[in-house]
Amino acid sequence: MSNNVIIRKFEPEDAQVCSALMQDHYRNHALDLPEVARKRIADARSTEYVKLISKDRVLVVAELENKIIGMGGLKGDEIRHMYVDRAFQKKNIGSAILKVLEEEARNKGLLSITVNSVFYAVEFYSKNGFKIVQSTQIERHGLNIDAILLEKKL
Ligand SMILES: CC(C)(COP(=O)(O)OP(=O)(O)OC[C@H]1O[C@@H](n2cnc3c(N)ncnc32)[C@H](O)[C@@H]1OP(=O)(O)O)[C@@H](O)C(=O)NCCC(=O)NCCS
Repeated sequence: MSNNVIIRKFEPEDAQVCSALMQDHYRNHALDLPEVARKRIADARSTEYVKLISKDRVLVVAELENKIIGMGGLKGDEIRHMYVDRAFQKKNIGSAILKVLEEEARNKGLLSITVNSVFYAVEFYSKNGFKIVQSTQIERHGLNIDAILLEKKL
């Protein structure tokens, strides 16, 4: 599967699909988060929001047969906005996105990268070589969310 998937840099025309990918996650799947948080985050992740964040970080998308099925970002040394379309999860696409972002980080001269992961995704990052640092809280759209800080030496 991941052999046919291309990981490429985000283009502004991708913003609507990326927004829809995140909104679907928060509206329909992120059941470990309180409903108020899911709704607030989904509403905030608009097409304009995606265009805005693409300016201050490296954003990449995973494309299969001209369809965007995943995305991920690197802001400073932090991995952000990792999402894979539910129909394509557990097929190594998230790992392929991470590899590209890790290469970007190495090229920037970074020696390590971090991620503030929701509980659900900790195993995914662990399987990709991240080590747990500590429990933490992250602020997203005015909400405090429990998370786990992980780090990977490059
Ligand atoms: C987390 C996410 C990006 C992982 O992408 P993915 O393409 O499904 O991951 P991969 O197929 O590359 O997984 C790599 C390994 O991690 C495991 N893994 C992936 N997601 C997992 C999960 N939620 N729980 C346990 N293991 C998981 C896979 O089974 C695989 O293990 P294996 O190598 O033993 O087969 C994807 O599940 C997702 O978009 N989730 C919803 C959004 C989200 O939570 N994003 C993270 C925000 S911090």
